[in-house]
This record gives sequence, C-alpha cells and structure tokens, in this order.
Amino acid sequence: MLLKTCLFLLLFLLQQTIATSFDGFLFNGFRGVNFTLEGFTTITTTGLLMLNNMTKEITGHAFHPSKFNFRNPSDGSVFSFSTTFAFGIISVDPNLSGHGIAFVISPTEDFSRAIGSQYLGLSNLSSNGNSSNHLFAVELDTILNPEFRDINENHVGVDINGLRSSNSSPAGYYPDNGQPFHNLTLWSGQVMQVWVDYDGRERRVDVTLAPASIAKPKKPLLSTKIDLAGVLMDSMFVGFASSSGSYLTSHYILGWSFSVNGTAQALDFSLLPSLPRTKSKNRSKLLYILLPLASAIFVLVAITVALLFVRRKMKYAEELEQWEMDYSSHRFSYKDLHRATRGFRDKELLGIGGFGRVYKGVLPSSRTEIAVKRVSHESRQGMREFVAEVVSLGRLRHRNLVPLLGYCRRKRELLLVYDYMRNGSLDKFLHDSGKPVLSWAARLKIIKGVAAGLLYLHQDWEQVVIHRDIKASNVLLDEEFNARLGDFGLARLYDHGDDLTSTNVVGTMGYLAPELARTGKSSTATDVFAFGTFLLEVVCGRRPLSSSMGEQVVLVDWVVENWRTGSITATRDARMGEEDYETEEVELLLKVGLLCSHPLPAARPSMRQTMRYLEGEEPLPELSPTYMSFSVLELLHNDGFDDYLMSPTATATATASSVYVSGE
Ligand SMILES: *[C@@H]1O[C@H](CO)[C@@H](O)[C@H](O)[C@H]1NC(C)=O
Ligand SMILES: *[C@@H]1O[C@H](CO)[C@@H](O)[C@H](O)[C@H]1NC(C)=O
Ligand SMILES: *[C@@H]1O[C@H](CO)[C@@H](O)[C@H](O)[C@H]1NC(C)=O
Ligand SMILES: *[C@@H]1O[C@H](CO)[C@@H](O)[C@H](O)[C@H]1NC(C)=O
Ligand SMILES: *[C@@H]1O[C@H](CO)[C@@H](O)[C@H](O)[C@H]1NC(C)=O
Ligand SMILES: *[C@@H]1O[C@H](CO)[C@@H](O)[C@H](O)[C@H]1NC(C)=O
Ligand SMILES: *[C@@H]1O[C@H](CO)[C@@H](O)[C@H](O)[C@H]1NC(C)=O
Repeated sequence: MLLKTCLFLLLFLLQQTIATSFDGFLFNGFRGVNFTLEGFTTITTTGLLMLNNMTKEITGHAFHPSKFNFRNPSDGSVFSFSTTFAFGIISVDPNLSGHGIAFVISPTEDFSRAIGSQYLGLSNLSSNGNSSNHLFAVELDTILNPEFRDINENHVGVDINGLRSSNSSPAGYYPDNGQPFHNLTLWSGQVMQVWVDYDGRERRVDVTLAPASIAKPKKPLLSTKIDLAGVLMDSMFVGFASSSGSYLTSHYILGWSFSVNGTAQALDFSLLPSLPRTKSKNRSKLLYILLPLASAIFVLVAITVALLFVRRKMKYAEELEQWEMDYSSHRFSYKDLHRATRGFRDKELLGIGGFGRVYKGVLPSSRTEIAVKRVSHESRQGMREFVAEVVSLGRLRHRNLVPLLGYCRRKRELLLVYDYMRNGSLDKFLHDSGKPVLSWAARLKIIKGVAAGLLYLHQDWEQVVIHRDIKASNVLLDEEFNARLGDFGLARLYDHGDDLTSTNVVGTMGYLAPELARTGKSSTATDVFAFGTFLLEVVCGRRPLSSSMGEQVVLVDWVVENWRTGSITATRDARMGEEDYETEEVELLLKVGLLCSHPLPAARPSMRQTMRYLEGEEPLPELSPTYMSFSVLELLHNDGFDDYLMSPTATATATASSVYVSGE
C-alpha cells in the first residue's frame, strides 16, 4: 500500500510537472484549467469540458494554451505522439445527434472563419481540403454527409486538412477476447474513450475507441499509413472542435492526456467528473405533447411569477461580500441549490448529521447529481476563514474522499455541495437490518480505503488536514462500494466560531480520544484514535458505544476483554459467512484497530504506519491484552509512554473505558 501511495504521489507530481512542461499533459477533469475556449465552450463547475451546450447551430473550440513541438526542424520528420480522451455526447433526440467532435492538431487556435454543422467548426467551403490548412483531426462524426463521402451517421475518421476523411470506420471496437466487432453509438450518452497514436517511424495513425469501462482494445478501430511530415508544422496547438448543427446536442470531454514521444498517460476514471444524467426518452416524447399545454399555462404562471417576484427575491436572498469575489468559481447560487433540491423538500432529505441536514439534488444546468449539506452557523467572524478553508478543501482530490464541489452562503447558513454518492453511508450497511450484509472482502476494501483517504489528509496533501469526525456515518459508498470519507475539515467550523464554551470538543461520542475529551485539542493522533474505533466497528459490526442489558458497552473494551478471555476473532461480525474471511486477517485488523485506539496518543501509529500494518508490509509489534491498559498517573501527565513500556508491572492500571467514561 505504501508503494501504492508513493505511486499516487509520484503520479500526482508527474501530473503537476507534465501539465506545465512542453511535451505532454494529463487532465483528469478540467476544473481550474486554463484553456483557450471559444464559441459556446465552457468548463462546468464539476470540471467537464462542455464543447457546446444543447443549443442548435453553434460551434465550440478548446485548445491547450501552449504549442507543442511535433517536428524535428532539421530533417522535417514528425515525432511520434499519443493522446487519449474520454468523451460523452448527449442528444435530446434518441435517433439523431448534432454533427460531432474532432480532436484537432492545428497551427492556429483561430477558427473564426470556419463554419459549423458538417464542417465541425474546422474549415469552410473554400478552405476545406486546402493543404495550407496544416490540419490533422480525428472526427467523431454523427451525421452522414455525402459531400464528404461519409460512410454512415456514426463513424470515426482521420481527417487531413479537411472534412473528407482519408480513412474512416463505423464506431465500435474489436473486443480482446476475439468476439466479433462490437458496434457503439457515439451519441448514446455513455462515456467512451478514444486513443490516437501516431508512430513517427512507421508513419502510421492508429485510432481506437472503447466504452469507458473497457481497457484499450489491442486491435485499433482503424489504422492508416499517413506521413504527417507534409501536414504538421514544427509547432502546433492541440485541442477539440465541435458543432451541433440543427440538433439539440451537448458534447463533453471528461478527461484528456497527451504526449509527444511517448504514450499518453492513462486517465484515472475515478477522478473524472461524471456526465450530466440523460433525460429519459419517454420524458422527451411527453414534452412534445405537453408543450402546447405548457405554453398556455405559462401565461398564467408568468402573471403569478410577476406577483411573487418580490417575495422570491427575498426567498433566494444570499450573502455575498467583497472578499468572496475571489471564490466565485466555487460558489453556487442559492437559487440553483434550491431548485436542485426542489426547495429542500423532505423527500430529498438524505440524512441528518451532526452538522446539519443533507439533501439530494440535481443541478438544473448540468444535470449533475449532488448532495447539499445545510450547516447553520452563528458566527460571522469565523465565516470568512472557514470559506477560505472550504475552497482550499475543494482542491483535495483522492479516490477515497467525497469531492467537495463548492459552497453557498445565506443568512446564518452555509451550504456545502458535494458529489452525490449512490450507496449512501456505511453505517446503514453495518447497523440496519434491511441492508445486505457486507462481505469480509468489502469490509477490508472499505477499511483500507478510509485509511488511504485519511493518510492523504494527514500526510500526503500540501497541508495537514485533521478530519475530526471520523465515523461510519461519515464514510460514504460510491457506485462500486469504494469508501469515501466525507465532511473533512467541517468540524473546524466550530473551532473558528466564537462560542467555544459548549462546542469546544468536536467529534462524536464513542470516537473521541481520551485526551481530546480532556483538552479539547484535535490532532492527527485523535483522528487515528477515531479511525481505530471505526475499524473495530466495521470488523465487529457493532457501534462504538452500545448498551446491553442496561449496561453501556464500549467496543474497544469489549474487544480487549474477548482477547484476554480467549479469542479476539470471536468479536468479528457474526453475520459474515463462515468461508468468507481469513482468521489471520481478522485478527490483524482487530489488533491494528486496538493499537490505533490506544488510550495514550504516543502509542498510536501514524496513518502511514497503519497502512503498512494493514497491507502486511510490516509486522505488528508484539501486543498483548495488557498492552491496552495503562497507568493512570502516566495518563494524567500524558507523557513518557516509553517509561510506561519499561514498567509493564505498573500496579495502578485502568482500562480504556474508565478514561472514556470519565472523559464524557
Ligand atoms: C448556452 O450558452 C449560451 C451562452 O453562454 C446561453 O445564452 C444559453 O442559454 C445556453 N443554453 C443552454 C441550453 O444552456
Ligand atoms: C492562461 O493562459 C494564457 C495563455 O497562455 C495566459 O496569457 C494567461 O495569463 C493564463 N491565465 C491564467 C490565470 O493562468
Ligand atoms: C522527441 O525525441 C527526439 C529524439 O528522439 C528529440 O530530438 C525531440 O526533441 C523530442 N521531442 C519532444 C517534443 O520532446
Ligand atoms: C427513433 O427511431 C425508432 C426506430 O427507427 C422510431 O420508432 C422512433 O419513433 C424514433 N424516435 C424519434 C423520436 O424519432
Ligand atoms: C475560409 O477559411 C479561410 C481560412 O480559415 C479564410 O481565409 C477564408 O476567408 C474563409 N472563407 C470564407 C468564405 O469565409
Ligand atoms: C489554398 O489556400 C491558399 C491560401 O489561403 C490559397 O492561396 C490557395 O489558392 C488555396 N488553394 C486552393 C486550391 O484553393
Ligand atoms: C453494426 O452496425 C452495422 C452498420 O454500421 C450493421 O450492419 C451491423 O449489423 C451491426 N452489427 C450488430 C451486431 O448490430
């Protein structure tokens, strides 16, 4: 796992450097990216590159701002290059879609003289095909244009200097398992990936297409011999062009990587923004019927709206101060959030957490599914600092964190906008009888995922982020049951607040480290403590604090007690199947959990160390049940754990729980 995190770090650094160096880049989503955008092209708040926006007869262009060297100036030979991108086309009409997308290599970013529709915003009647264009493109064409000898209305083509493809093929791919050619519909609304590879020595272009879920097929969709020496110039722009023509279509690029003299880096699909949800086909049909009716109603509504306008204005009132201007790209309008959640209807309520209510929503503009958390906040002082922090947390990107998209501020309220997680929170799976029982493999994956997310927050990001509220209900599960830690840094809101008397200690009972209860100071060690408790909760399927026959049971103590009296593995969740788990693994995890939840902060491992234990890269230190007890005196002085280790016979010992309880 250490290897994995190192690799991640390396990739991250690589991504940073490559993105700015001259011979390649990788963008997993485009949030904050500085591209040259033209026409109707925008970057959505979720980081999609939207080439055009459901509007007829428009074009859009996006280019990387710097030029790349494609040719050796001395002998004119063209270097090999490689690019891959993920795209999605969403069309209102299920049978037809506006003209298409092209990946373009061009000497200029200026296509103001080009026309749309079948010309894809790349050329015009007089310039089409002219060798002075120096244009190389791979088109994803969704209309049959006989003038360009298009083969059908759903094809991929290689274009030189114009729209008449030098080679093209119906959209689809050759599966690696030898099955016959598999057709794909470019405008299906599904995410697909394209690879374009030019071999400078062989003078060959390979173009490959596949659905997002599939690795690059070995056999390209089309492979054609072309010498680009006469086409490309020494230094060229790379980018995309698209046109909608007379169809309501949106073209999206989700991620893009490019490299000269090397293979384009793979996209990380877990980091890509998701496509807006497509409207159901029935609905669009229904629309045709309802349209006349709707327009009649519209007149009535317009009058009402005019009357309600003043009231609405009040309803959507939000606060916007001068200092917030810097954060405008992270700010959502209250109106959008209100609409997205249908007025924060109870029906959209996903849950009520320690910090407020969470609602499900769908952003009206991009159809992105979101979760909106309403946090009430009294203090005005803390707000500015906190918003700065939210914006900075929005830059956290890790496959085990719930992406924070932005915020909105209103009256005494802060609204935080997150990606929506399909499978909801983990605690439901652990403690609700209605949900399926998680297998051991699923639990292992969840625990390691949360550990990886926490390691990133603690050690691998540019700043140390203390989570402060790790618990099962803050761990969300995405579509593939990947664990994602939510609410990071949120507890800090209360630190910034001015009312410190009652809310000094943040966190959730049962997950609070003893020293936190005493001093109120959070640290990475208090996070590790909560993680240990969380780990035990997942393995044992029991809450950190529960009551049994009127008596309070502290999970950590209960596990230690079972260990002392016989079998530590007997504490695992009995609902798991018998063959499902490995005894050694269960034992290892329980002990790691106990070590992390050690009452003395100095005895807890760091998250990196914890990862090493979990991955079996390093053996756990020799532990015994008594290791978990400790000297009360020592705890009071809260130092010298080493001294304690040297006097294991200390007489005045207490178990974890007595401190727990006294800490309450
Ligand atoms: C598309 O973008 C244009 C210009 O930004 C805007 O006027 C129009 O309303 C947008 N259309 C849709 C359907 O979002
Ligand atoms: C974006 O790129 C352009 C062209 O390279 C440059 O002039 C501009 O300063 C950049 N803007 C930002 C915010 O980096
Ligand atoms: C590609 O490699 C050649 C040598 O193989 C080198 O001369 C050239 O500068 C490289 N091009 C880029 C853009 O890195
Ligand atoms: C799409 O095509 C199918 C079959 O060709 C046809 O039945 C259907 O009516 C078409 N839908 C629209 C909206 O044109
Ligand atoms: C077509 O495009 C070329 C090059 O972009 C430009 O020089 C020419 O004026 C355009 N022709 C028309 C009719 O717009
Ligand atoms: C190609 O374009 C150049 C420059 O725009 C122009 O001089 C030339 O006549 C064009 N060639 C043809 C065949 O149209
Ligand atoms: C794939 O599409 C082609 C037309 O482009 C059609 O002839 C063929 O039957 C389709 N194959 C399958 C399996 O649907």
